[in-house]
Amino acid sequence: MKGKKLSKEEARKRIEELRELINYHNYRYYVLNDPVISDAEYDELFRELQELEEMYPEFITPDSPTQRVGAPIKEGFKPVRHSVPMLSLQDARNEEEIREFDARIKRFLGLPMNALIEYSVEPKYDGLSCEIVYRNGRLEVASTRGDGYVGEDVTPNVKTIKSVPLRLIKSRNLPIPSLLEVRGEVLMSRKDFEELNRELIKRGEKPFANPRNAASGSLRQLDPSVTAKRRLDFVAWGVGLVEGVSFKKHSEVLDALGEWGFKTANPREVVKGIDGVIRFYREMEKKRDDFEYELDGVVVKVNDLELWEKLGTTARSPRYAIAAKFKPRQRTTRVLDVVYQVGRTGTITPVAVLEPVEVGGVIVSRASLHNFDEVERLGVMIGDKVLVQRAGDVIPDIVAVIKEERTGKEKPIRPPEKCPVCGAEVVREGAYYKCVNASCPAKLVQALRHMASRRALDIEGLGEKTARLLVEKGFVKDLADIFYLTKDRLLQLPGFAEKSAENLIKGIEKAKNPPLAKFIYALGIPNVGEYTAGVLAEHFKSWDRFSKASYDELLSIRGIGPETAMSIVKFLREPRNKEMIEKMFRAGVKPQDLKVVEDSPFAGKVVVFTGALSSMTRDEAKEWVERLGGKVSNSVSRKTDLVVVGENPGSKYQRAQQLGVKIIDEEEFLRMLEEGKRALGIEE
Ligand code: IVH
Repeated sequence: MKGKKLSKEEARKRIEELRELINYHNYRYYVLNDPVISDAEYDELFRELQELEEMYPEFITPDSPTQRVGAPIKEGFKPVRHSVPMLSLQDARNEEEIREFDARIKRFLGLPMNALIEYSVEPKYDGLSCEIVYRNGRLEVASTRGDGYVGEDVTPNVKTIKSVPLRLIKSRNLPIPSLLEVRGEVLMSRKDFEELNRELIKRGEKPFANPRNAASGSLRQLDPSVTAKRRLDFVAWGVGLVEGVSFKKHSEVLDALGEWGFKTANPREVVKGIDGVIRFYREMEKKRDDFEYELDGVVVKVNDLELWEKLGTTARSPRYAIAAKFKPRQRTTRVLDVVYQVGRTGTITPVAVLEPVEVGGVIVSRASLHNFDEVERLGVMIGDKVLVQRAGDVIPDIVAVIKEERTGKEKPIRPPEKCPVCGAEVVREGAYYKCVNASCPAKLVQALRHMASRRALDIEGLGEKTARLLVEKGFVKDLADIFYLTKDRLLQLPGFAEKSAENLIKGIEKAKNPPLAKFIYALGIPNVGEYTAGVLAEHFKSWDRFSKASYDELLSIRGIGPETAMSIVKFLREPRNKEMIEKMFRAGVKPQDLKVVEDSPFAGKVVVFTGALSSMTRDEAKEWVERLGGKVSNSVSRKTDLVVVGENPGSKYQRAQQLGVKIIDEEEFLRMLEEGKRALGIEE
């Protein structure tokens, strides 16, 4: 709704409406640190109110949001009055508005339109503005901007910020001013913001919507030890009152702040004429993702401080500077639907279909919801109004849900019941849902890679590239097809020659008789990693028994929980998997059953040797008995099961005879060894 079309009465009503809206959003932003509209949308409302009030100045009231800047004082903080009001800047949203700012200055100063004004250009940091007062070089008091006139005393909190000097550094070129009011931005880096949010989510607390809110929430803490735990930074961009040193240019002010020990806006430049400003603005917008801190634009300031005096300020902002904003990256829009995408590893991610909206110069119609923990955390429903954010070229995220705007018609987001690519059943793996079809087309390349990997079937020569080629050419449509590959087929693939094709075929052949645990692991059953595969093989001993596993039996195994048990059951009963495994077996794949030690003739037996053996040493014989499940003792007792008699036996032989223990010769011992080895599947 634009002012021009409104009658006076309509304008009055709209002004009231806008004030109420703006006040509400001020509260969300400044008091709760939890905005529900994007900055750009807030600015839009503010501009509309400003325009209407300009058109009908009779409606301006002292309590209109346009008549003050910034935030109310948070309870518990001591108020601090700024000796020079901390105003805010007028925005320019595009290059045309930046040029208009330059023209306005020249008009105001009565300069010709071709005059070249000197500007200082700097990044506009998206943080929380703060003033730090130094008396005779020592930090005295620090405050937030507040409403521009009175801010909150955050001195102990600011003192925890490592880049804030507690004493000014003495510089060779400059005296220490008797009074210095430094102004700048308190910031949190994007990296620290993400880390903090991860931690908050882990603790079940609400994460911050962006680094600026995180910086604000961290600084405006009544307990400064909380601030100290958060990594905040301070970048100086100007001064309030300064006594004892004087400057002619804004760039000199920043240079001096640098010498006194502050981080200052970086990179910054002094340019002549508005074209240089536009170049800097374009460069910064292009590079905005490379910065450690979130930037939302470029600040353009007339460099000559004498001109600042001449240009003066309006009630809200100075005429000598402007905030040239980048395209906004947060917007609100509506969730129209949720669809599912299957990733390379079979992970199914929910994706929100959005009412198309422009974010940062790109029309956005989808946002990733990542996983179901995220859906739950956001509490998002179909039909919800949401705040979306785009960073760089990545798919946008939903940052927050505007629950205040719910109508009751919103629908919950349900997990998928079937894989959207192949229609197989899905199972939960942590925060994700996964398709149980071992050969689902969405993940076939990765599934082949996994099956061939060293810890699975260890098929040498079957890397990512070959797996992709085999799938692309249609030579492999499921995991079993690998075992039907021929040398001729491989020779049709780019990069394969006689020798490499032969080697791969050999590698595949060698993989046909894997230990059971490796075979189970190779199938890529959701929730079944290498360790679990080992536990399963140990328990079931054979593929035949494992393939008939019931949910209850699985659950009774130590280390197998309900999610894993459900995954295995669904995997095994999926017809596509059954068929594929049968097909593998038809090609000659045969996982080795685990032999049971009970089948060995030495299982649980106590064996004693006496006399020398001719075929092996005593130690070797002992090792074999133990490998085959027996125990070796040095003396004969009633507990002895077997005495092996070699050449020149000692007294143990008589003792065995006295006690009636079973006595065997070396030949018989060797025969038992062979039997035991056979039973345990030991090949030499
Ligand atoms: S100069 C009269 N320079 O942006 C205010 N401000 O909307 C002069 N900001 O309140 C501000 N980076 O919190 C200036 N390089 C920079 C800045 C910067 C971020 C913030 C500051 C200010 C707001 C203006």
